[in-house]
Amino acid sequence: MIKIAPSIISADFAKLGEEVQSISDAEYIHFDVMDGSFVPNMSLGFPLLQSLRKITDQVLDVHLMIVNPVKYAKRFAEAGADIVVFHVEADQPQDLFTAISDVKAAGRKVGLSIKPKTPASALIPYLHLIDVVLVMTVEPGFGGQKFMEDQVPKIAEVKKLIDAGGYACDIEVDGGINPDTAKKVVAAGANILVAGSDVFKQADRNARIAQLRG
Ligand code: DX5
Ligand code: ZN
Repeated sequence: MIKIAPSIISADFAKLGEEVQSISDAEYIHFDVMDGSFVPNMSLGFPLLQSLRKITDQVLDVHLMIVNPVKYAKRFAEAGADIVVFHVEADQPQDLFTAISDVKAAGRKVGLSIKPKTPASALIPYLHLIDVVLVMTVEPGFGGQKFMEDQVPKIAEVKKLIDAGGYACDIEVDGGINPDTAKKVVAAGANILVAGSDVFKQADRNARIAQLRG
C-alpha cells in the first residue's frame, strides 16, 4: 500500500492544529530538520516536534538534513519521532552505524537518505539494518523545487538491492512529488511519498492525499 507523508514545513505554523487536521487521512507526517550546514537552510527542531507529538497519532517521520546525525538522532527518537532518517553523506560509516543503533535502542524505526548525486550502492553496507531508504528527488534544503526525473532509475536500483537481499525496507521518495511524478516513482518501486507544497497549496488536502495515493 502507498503511504503519503505531507511535509509539515509547507504548513502555516500559526495554525498548526488546523493544518494537521487538514491532512488527517495521511498515514505519515514528514518533519524536515535543517541545520544551515548540511543544507543551506534552517528549519524545524525539538520544540515543534514535541508539540506535534501531542496533537497527532500519525507516524512522525523525521528527516534530518544535518551534519553529524550521530549527535542528535537519539534525541529526536526521544522527542516523539516514530522514524528517524538521516543522510549517508552526513557522517563517517562508524558514526552512521552508531546512530542507527541509537534509534533502534530507543524503539524507533530508522532510515537512511541519499542526495541526488549519491549512488544507490552507498546504501549497501546499511540495508540489512534499516527500515526505510529515502531517495531525494531534489537537492535537499527547500520545498517547492522541481522533481528530478533523472533520479527515477535510482529508485528502481534501490528496489533491486532491497529485493535481492530480501530486506524488509520501505522506499520513500522526497521532492517535487505531485500526482504526475507520484505515478513515476511508484512504478519504480517507491511506497512512501513525501509531498509538501503540492498538498498544502490545495483547499482540500485530504482529497489530494487520496489522489497522490493513486
Ligand atoms: C526538501 C525536503 C522536503 C520538502 C519537500 O529538502 O526534504 O521534504 O519539504 O517539499 P516539496 O514536496 O514541495 O518538494
Ligand atoms: Zn524531507
